[in-house]
Amino acid sequence: MCGIIGYTGKKNATQVLVKGLSRLEYRGYDSAGVAVIRDQELVIRKKKGKLSVLRDDLKKDPIQGKTGIGHTRWATHGVPNDVNAHPHYDHKEKIAIVHNGIIENYLDLKKMLERKGYKFVSETDSEAIAHLISSNYKGDLRKAVQDSAKQMEGSYSIAAVHKGEPGRIVGMRNDSPLIIGIGEGENFIASDIPAVLDYTKKVVYLDNKEIVDLNEKTVLVYGPNGRKKKKKEVEIKWDISQAEKNGFRHFMLKEIFEQPEVIKNILEERIEKENVKFDELKITKNQLKKTKKIAIVACGTAYHAGLTAQYAIEEVAKVPVWVDTSSEFRYRDPLVDKETLVIVVSQSGETADTLAALREAREKGAKVLAICNVLGSSIAREADGVIYTHAGPEIAVASTKAYTAQLVVLYLFAYYLASARGSKKNSGFIKEIKSLPAAAKKLLDQYSSKRNKIAKYASEFHEYYLARNNKSCFLYLGRNVNYPNAIEGALKLKEISYISAEGYPAGEMKHGPIALIDENPWVVCIAVKGATYEKMLSNIQEIKARGGIIIAIATEGDAKLKKSKVEYVIETPRIKELFSPAIVVIPLQLLAYYVAAEFGYDIDQPRNLAKSVTVE
Ligand code: G6P
Repeated sequence: MCGIIGYTGKKNATQVLVKGLSRLEYRGYDSAGVAVIRDQELVIRKKKGKLSVLRDDLKKDPIQGKTGIGHTRWATHGVPNDVNAHPHYDHKEKIAIVHNGIIENYLDLKKMLERKGYKFVSETDSEAIAHLISSNYKGDLRKAVQDSAKQMEGSYSIAAVHKGEPGRIVGMRNDSPLIIGIGEGENFIASDIPAVLDYTKKVVYLDNKEIVDLNEKTVLVYGPNGRKKKKKEVEIKWDISQAEKNGFRHFMLKEIFEQPEVIKNILEERIEKENVKFDELKITKNQLKKTKKIAIVACGTAYHAGLTAQYAIEEVAKVPVWVDTSSEFRYRDPLVDKETLVIVVSQSGETADTLAALREAREKGAKVLAICNVLGSSIAREADGVIYTHAGPEIAVASTKAYTAQLVVLYLFAYYLASARGSKKNSGFIKEIKSLPAAAKKLLDQYSSKRNKIAKYASEFHEYYLARNNKSCFLYLGRNVNYPNAIEGALKLKEISYISAEGYPAGEMKHGPIALIDENPWVVCIAVKGATYEKMLSNIQEIKARGGIIIAIATEGDAKLKKSKVEYVIETPRIKELFSPAIVVIPLQLLAYYVAAEFGYDIDQPRNLAKSVTVE
């Protein structure tokens, strides 16, 4: 993954680069660095650790210059340390590069370059790019990058500078994202829009294998054959304030609290009387009518949204659905054909496995619909049709508002599909789904103070955990349409508090997880009203009989559940069962958040993770 940025203009490049990197830190945060052209010199400064370590170092010893490139790293080849951090010099220290992605043939390149006398200092694949460009350099950086691209295999976006060509940055992408920011007397390249939004709202999306050559005045884009290309400028509609914390302690908490608004915006945008509209969707109703089966393919939290959508689409549109993780789908020779609709779900639109699954599906003749949050992302552009979730930028690594947005869009898609296939309009569906924003708000209003009930439960868990020599863990149980939420709740907790947590369909408890139950694990039971409510109450009794500590997620006013004497109850507003996952997940997100806060962990940037996984 990693985040890259380049700046050329009249400002202090170091400051612009560090600020841009702070907007990209979600992509990787184990080391960071910049390369700046200062007079005739090319100065690299790079540090292991969070961006703040680099920032402090640059404060003590600033680098003045008007052109530079920067990088924030999520290690793939070589441990996080100062040497492996980017940028990397070529052996003459005339060229510096930053790289996001993986160079798959780097060992061959390394051998070839070492034979030519190039000395490698790091353990990274990326360093090979710097030497390769150097070996192809004959006075024109763009040409050298273009020739090098022909020898490189893998996924990459790169930015390169040469000290003999101050003011010039050359960038290139192949399967990893790269955008160009167009400013007034200054220009930028970056992995993602927030990195440039402090300075400009005009961007150009680079396509695969394109090369950009920029200085403060001009931006030229070339195809792989070296021919100039005309590109469309896009005006970004959202504001950088949306990528700021706005008084919340963490982005994750802010994003959890944004959910009522996000859901409301989606419903307002998409529902017109009793109809659902997806204006940007290029797949026609007629094509949808012919769909015989649907595969939903995604990773992480987006995969859990897909699991929930399976219930919704099968119930509402009566089309068979199966759900797969992208990394399994792509290598399984999946049985998809012209009559299959493949729905890929991705917040970032850049997840490497999901992108590969999309390509595999299209190659087999299936129509691919992408549900994405990031406009113009690779997945959005390569799919046959796209529906945007418009949840705004999600910065915290643990996904929250993007998930509820995906759920709501997928519910609406189920309805849209049903009408495309000639089902009768169901006004009950529209009425019920419209109650989601108020329900989400009502729920969150109860937890807006710092000393709320969920924070208190989290604090009690923390004490319990320490008192038992860190022996406790979590089990999440749910059934039916809330089973995917059990896995999502467990994922949220392990992502940010590093506590072992397992999500399971409650009915399967007797086939294994029940063996785990004694007084150690805390068991979160999703027991909202619905078709399997009574069954869940029986599961609760089975856990209690074995001494398990229970947090029940209940429907408000449920006296029966209270009588079952569970230790903790979190009430949620009453809502039609099909739509309840969009509400039930909120207390699960808050629980994970507050547990991680009790442990004092870095909630927005959990260890070993990154927001957008652009490598396999
Ligand atoms: C990473 C993130 C998760 C996310 C998953 C899929 O693992 O940490 O939060 O759910 O990637 O990302 P996508 O952008 O495809 O939804």
